[in-house]
Amino acid sequence: MLRKITLGVALMAMVTMITTGTQADHHGDSKKGTSIEDVMHALKDGFHKKILDGSATDEEKAQMLDFAKALPKGTPPKGSKSSWKKLTKKLVVASKAVVAGKDGAIEAFGEAINCKTCHTPHKVYPPEKQ
Ligand code: HEC
Repeated sequence: MLRKITLGVALMAMVTMITTGTQADHHGDSKKGTSIEDVMHALKDGFHKKILDGSATDEEKAQMLDFAKALPKGTPPKGSKSSWKKLTKKLVVASKAVVAGKDGAIEAFGEAINCKTCHTPHKVYPPEKQ
């Protein structure tokens, strides 16, 4: 587990280096960035639920968008790149719509944040270790 995390961090650092090297960082906050696991821990604590029930503050919506944007920069332990891109992009688009207060945004967000839709192709469940 620890090794997996270390490797993940190393990969993230590489990806960050590559992406920041080739494109301007349009929201220059933390250099290290948020990992997939950081986002997942927030979801596990029910962060997204406030968005779904409409009680999220603007700050929380913005935080959700930051979380969503962090995901495509990470590499999931399983599944194809194109699938990961597609699912994370859907979440970014939906989170942006939530921030903008667009019609149907919450429904779209609810679909995009579906845990199982993304975990099935991209998460390795502990019982079936590689
Ligand atoms: C867009 C894709 C995506 C969505 C949506 C998603 N997850 Fe995840 N989740 C992942 C990936 C990928 C991992 C595996 C991360 C790893 O092992 O590096 C993961 C792992 C986790 C973990 C384990 C984190 C850890 O410490 O290893 C938890 C808990 C979790 N997700 C909760 C949730 C919950 C709750 C939801 C729904 C509300 C959700 N996730 C929705 C992609 C997603």
